Amino acid sequence: MKYINKKLSIEKTNFHKIAQNFKTPTYCYSYSKLKENITNFKKNFKSFSPLICFAVKSNTNVSLIKEIKKFGLGADVVSIGEMMMALKAKINPKKIVFSGVGKTTDEINFAIDRKILLINAESKSEVEEINRIAKTKKIKVQIGVRLNPNTDAKTLSQISTGKKDNKFGVNKKTFYEIINFCKSSKNVDLKCLSVHIGSQILDHKPYEKMLKVLDNILNKTNHKFEYIDLGGGMGISYSNKNKKLNYKKYNSAIKKFLKNKKYKIIFEPGRSIIGNTGTLITKVIYIKDSESKKFIILDAAMNDLMRPALYGAIHKTLPLIKSGKISKKTYEFVGPICESTDKFITIKNFQELKEKDYIAICDVGAYGMSLSSNYNLRTKPLELLIKGNKLKIIRKRQKHKDLI
Ligand code: LLP
Repeated sequence: MKYINKKLSIEKTNFHKIAQNFKTPTYCYSYSKLKENITNFKKNFKSFSPLICFAVKSNTNVSLIKEIKKFGLGADVVSIGEMMMALKAKINPKKIVFSGVGKTTDEINFAIDRKILLINAESKSEVEEINRIAKTKKIKVQIGVRLNPNTDAKTLSQISTGKKDNKFGVNKKTFYEIINFCKSSKNVDLKCLSVHIGSQILDHKPYEKMLKVLDNILNKTNHKFEYIDLGGGMGISYSNKNKKLNYKKYNSAIKKFLKNKKYKIIFEPGRSIIGNTGTLITKVIYIKDSESKKFIILDAAMNDLMRPALYGAIHKTLPLIKSGKISKKTYEFVGPICESTDKFITIKNFQELKEKDYIAICDVGAYGMSLSSNYNLRTKPLELLIKGNKLKIIRKRQKHKDLI
């Protein structure tokens, strides 16, 4: 993304033109960024050619999932809805893994009937439920078990999942009990050990620790696992300050873990594939002065992009047209929703803005649209895919008649 003739542009298209033609708020995704992310991801781990299952929860747009599928990726899903979406995007069921702590009987039934690669169970009761359903169908179902490795991912507490206090996975003791249960079962085939310690992980050391825990556990059982599913969580750089995860070091740790072992590695990345491909463009409706700052009231709100309100997440915010004039007052970018947390970011020394100017909120491809809602009965934004000089509407702007 760069300024060409003072206009913020991506892949030969300037966002200002998009804003005028398609109105705002609008999510724009860059195909070339997506391609670059997937290519880099594959390159980083090419020595053991993992199965890469895109975490659909990060972005559920079927057109984007179709594009991702074309690069050979599978899907990690956490509900029947996400599974249906992955199948609609024609992802091969043999490349779908199903995670989640509360899979219902209907969801398990659906997953078994679609013959997906793995149902990654997260409790003993769930394994028993899968076993019960498989028995009625007189078949053997491939499952994984998610271990809670009690590893601190050193990320935001709200998106940390691998500590013993988190609801995810099972502890070591239960893990061994499940192995024993599966040994005597004719209906579940325990193929995979899975983990996922959290999201937006920027330090490779928690991954190293997690791999040591896995190594330890695997050495203490003679059960033959075919797959090790390491989950996702690879962090991206949201601001100039935060570095992204060092893939080389993570790759070396996995290679060390795999020495003399023959596991197929599965990854479930979401953010690292789609996060930096998305930009939310929005218009300044009003500017309101207060003593210490100016409120820049945008037509996008927390219902369109929840991350700042939910996690205090910071997203780079840029003007669509560069003027060079700096405002003397601090700007607070807010939405029109009746909540004080409906606030995106506070910035000093931003360029001077006028009402009807446009703004870009960056790196919103992951957990942007997928976390959006209709709060305040606001309609959901339009989604656009930018591919070279072509623009494709990949989700229409919701209409009030869809809601009322
Ligand atoms: N696998 C499992 C089992 C997961 O729970 C998640 C994310 C992923 C894979 C993908 O993680 P990623 O590669 O995207 O980090 N809404 C939060 C993030 C929640 C992540 C939940 N689980 C956010 O906006 O930061």
